[in-house]
Amino acid sequence: MWQPKYLILVAVSLSVLACAVVGDGGGRPLVTAVTKDAATSLYTIPVKSGRPLVLDLSGPIVWSTCADGAPHDTLECNNIDCMRAHRFHPPGCPHTGYGMPDVHNPFRCKCTAHPHNPVSGDTASGNMTRVALSANATDGMNPLGPVSFTAVTSCAPNTLLQGLPAGAVGVVGLARFSLAFPAQVAGTQGVANSFALCLPSNPGNGVAIFGGGPLFVLGQPISEMLGGSTPLRKHGDSPGYYIRASKGITVDGLRILPGDHAPLTIGLSTTTPYTELRSDVYRLFINAFDQAMERWGAAALRVPSPAESPFELCYNNSKLSQTRFGFFVPRITLMLDGGTSWQVFGMNSIVRLNRATACLAFVEMKAGNKAGYGGGAAPAVVIGGFQMENMLLVFDEEKQTLGFTTGRHLITGLSCGHFNFTMPA
Ligand SMILES: *[C@@H]1O[C@H](CO)[C@@H](O)[C@H](O)[C@H]1NC(C)=O
Ligand SMILES: *[C@@H]1O[C@H](CO)[C@@H](O)[C@H](O)[C@H]1NC(C)=O
Ligand SMILES: *[C@@H]1O[C@H](CO)[C@@H](O)[C@H](O)[C@H]1NC(C)=O
Ligand SMILES: *[C@@H]1O[C@H](CO)[C@@H](O)[C@H](O)[C@H]1NC(C)=O
Repeated sequence: MWQPKYLILVAVSLSVLACAVVGDGGGRPLVTAVTKDAATSLYTIPVKSGRPLVLDLSGPIVWSTCADGAPHDTLECNNIDCMRAHRFHPPGCPHTGYGMPDVHNPFRCKCTAHPHNPVSGDTASGNMTRVALSANATDGMNPLGPVSFTAVTSCAPNTLLQGLPAGAVGVVGLARFSLAFPAQVAGTQGVANSFALCLPSNPGNGVAIFGGGPLFVLGQPISEMLGGSTPLRKHGDSPGYYIRASKGITVDGLRILPGDHAPLTIGLSTTTPYTELRSDVYRLFINAFDQAMERWGAAALRVPSPAESPFELCYNNSKLSQTRFGFFVPRITLMLDGGTSWQVFGMNSIVRLNRATACLAFVEMKAGNKAGYGGGAAPAVVIGGFQMENMLLVFDEEKQTLGFTTGRHLITGLSCGHFNFTMPA
């Protein structure tokens, strides 16, 4: 990453941009819109020449299709980034090795990586290369103008796009690793290895900001809106994001405990649509929510779960009351390390399936569920996209913390739609 040739490339691209762009274009965080794809419930950012890449919190690399036949510069096998690309072995990947002999020079070796599709579970082989990615620089309030930078990525065959949104050309890994997107932005822009994510609940109004603060929404600094912060944890050999609920989970203020009473390990996933709970936790959780609704005198609102739905507890949509935080239902709280609580209100706990039915949007984890990079034991909870929507999450690799907005900050009306995407004149 720190080869002189590479630094010159970056310096040249920054100085070119400096002429075209308001401000200096360097040393600034980058902002991009986040879009939700209705068909797949996946989230994308348009950072490859305006074309979308799918956000994957657990992915250690960035990969995309390399234009068929278009020449690309393949890294040598002994390049440090080639070694790095093999640090995490994709789940179920039979491939090993760093590359293959160069057809033009038998003494050289060209680097291949193994890009992984977190939705289909497929892994392929692709050349490691460098491509231009782009986003807007930001002062934390508005976009300032486009910035292009060179990132180390893997090529992938078109067949690896299966299961991704129409038009998406790859996956942007956001994990805790030097080849993931946040670290590459930090390295090329000279900004912090930290990013803020606000996933949208409808197609077009989410936002991601890479490179730290200060950030402002509705004229307020985001640091004042973040109510909670909890340490990021390691889980096995996974590069993903994990936190820990040392005091478990409460539903309507009553604690549910899994059999072993151990702290619960919680993963976060942008490629899992709804939060998954390990079987032992799931059963206690469903029973606790059902009983809480009964205490609330709402047992009669239960309706059968539609056949095609993955959810167990469903309610009569027209009889549940609405608040500005979504349906008025018992509150779910994750009691996290550091003494903070992640509160889940109706807007993140109950999904409206159709005009008649709304369901508790949590599902049971399947045994041996897509283990992900690093494998290891399944965490107790994998927080999915729906539970993170319209929250502001700050993944800070420098401080090794996850910051998030808590309930009382919702009162300010914060939602993803409030980032000001208008460029100042
Ligand atoms: C990978 O790179 C090699 C050498 O640079 C090239 O011959 C080959 O066609 C590339 N493969 C793909 C799938 O682009
Ligand atoms: C930069 O911001 C402008 C204005 O909001 C927008 O039209 C453009 O698509 C953005 N560019 C990128 C790469 O996100
Ligand atoms: C839901 O409530 C509405 C309004 O009271 C009622 O008309 C409808 O039959 C209920 N649906 C079910 C499935 O119970
Ligand atoms: C968004 O930013 C533009 C440019 O600075 C400004 O003119 C406009 O008033 C802002 N809009 C809101 C809603 O704050």
